[in-house]
Amino acid sequence: MFNFLRKNKKPVELFYHTDVHCHILPGVDHGSQSVEQSLQMLEAEMEMGINRVICTSHVTSETFENTPETLTNAYNILCDAVKEAGMDIELHASAEYRIDEYWEKQWEAGTILPMPGKFLLMENSFQQELLLLDELMFDLMVKGYKPILAHPERYGYYSRRRQRYEKLHRAGVKFQVNLLSLAGYFGTVARENAMWLVKHEMVDMLGTDMHNLEHAHVIHEYLRSKDWRKLSKVLEPEIMNDWVK
Ligand SMILES: [Fe+2]
Repeated sequence: MFNFLRKNKKPVELFYHTDVHCHILPGVDHGSQSVEQSLQMLEAEMEMGINRVICTSHVTSETFENTPETLTNAYNILCDAVKEAGMDIELHASAEYRIDEYWEKQWEAGTILPMPGKFLLMENSFQQELLLLDELMFDLMVKGYKPILAHPERYGYYSRRRQRYEKLHRAGVKFQVNLLSLAGYFGTVARENAMWLVKHEMVDMLGTDMHNLEHAHVIHEYLRSKDWRKLSKVLEPEIMNDWVK
């Protein structure tokens, strides 16, 4: 239907079927800007073997102050469009929570939208690590949530302090690495951090973190690479994306 890929290139399918990180809900962050774009992105997901998508739109202070209501509204609109288009893909509404003042307010008010199974996708600041990160993660776990740190490889400050990865992971925080980082899309530091996490068996989940069709193209290309063929064999026994239910 929306096949935007060149017909002569056969898409390579992933070994799991749940995307746990993407910005596919229309009009709630700087990901998809329309229902049509969302459907094209979902088509791209299906071409790589995904049949369940956890929609994790941004929730951040000032820029994207989403609530369960704004997210659920966009989700309902997209579900209707998916049904109308006859697409066989399951959607869930959740969020990527930046740990900031807005998160604190939402958390205290109890207005958060976890993934199925009480998984919660949490995003660190890109500038510096939060002082009370360990305490916050612990608090979430005590309350029965399963925190997933979104793209740990993308926080540049960890490349000089990789013992922080070890500490957080040992404490029970799940790590979700972006396919785009493995593809080198976010530069050398993110790729090197990602490879370090692979080597040390700390990659629990993979995500597209897809914001647009360009991201989908980059991922599709990467899935055809030798690098991915090799890495996917290493990662397959570790990856728990399909546990999110
Ligand atoms: Fe994201």
